[in-house]
Amino acid sequence: MITFANGRAIGYDDVGKGVPVLFLHGFPHNRSLWSPQLGALAAPARTICMDLRGFGESAPDGPGGVDGYADDAAKLLDALNIERAVVIGLSMGGYAALAFWRRHRDRVRALVFCDTRATADNEAARAARGEMQALAEERGSMAVANQMISGMVGRTTREKNPELVDELHRMMSLAPVRGIVDALEALKQRPDSTAMLGTIDVPTLIIVGDEDVLTPVKDARAMHLAITGSRLEIITGAGHVSNMERPATFNHVLSEFLVSLTAQ
Ligand code: MLT
Repeated sequence: MITFANGRAIGYDDVGKGVPVLFLHGFPHNRSLWSPQLGALAAPARTICMDLRGFGESAPDGPGGVDGYADDAAKLLDALNIERAVVIGLSMGGYAALAFWRRHRDRVRALVFCDTRATADNEAARAARGEMQALAEERGSMAVANQMISGMVGRTTREKNPELVDELHRMMSLAPVRGIVDALEALKQRPDSTAMLGTIDVPTLIIVGDEDVLTPVKDARAMHLAITGSRLEIITGAGHVSNMERPATFNHVLSEFLVSLTAQ
């Protein structure tokens, strides 16, 4: 489906009834990243997956940074008449979820951070983002997908589930160059959110694959230690896209968390 915010398209899916759960994908994905979760949770949930600007069916809007992604998410909630949602973000989607907390915390029922981190890029990481921007502009999104695919999944998936690797590679190679370049700018410029973690006072779940090499377990642990009362779940045999690599385990953990919210 598509809605328009200030005349700009935002692509999304909206399936099920129950506590609204807004899913934010990583880089350079689109909302189909969440297809194993869409309508598939055991908990009664309204699962809403959106394309971040410049990806999937969402139009680009210039480099608005992670704040732009967060503001679009708030606009989508407005369009759907949802006051508060559980906000769940994977990797770059986690950076957007942190920005959403910074800018729209009254709209947050709970937070779920998957395979992400709170820290900002260092100089070396920023330089690598710049090189990837040049790669995207010169050789297109397929070249970016080729470069990123091996780190996207864990060793177990690479060995045992080549179909999933192909599916993910296809998704990444379809990302528009404009969206990729703007997202890399957002990744480069994102602030360090470490100090803000102490302000999070809603139920928070942190999920990470034990084979994640892009945002490893130590980053998830650091978030867990800084967010009072948060829960950490480490999914074995999964890498950076733990929701796709071990969907049954991921959905079980997420469903349990959502049920715990309704019990509160
Ligand atoms: C992502 O999956 O969103 C990216 O790997 C995030 C990053 O590179 O920091």
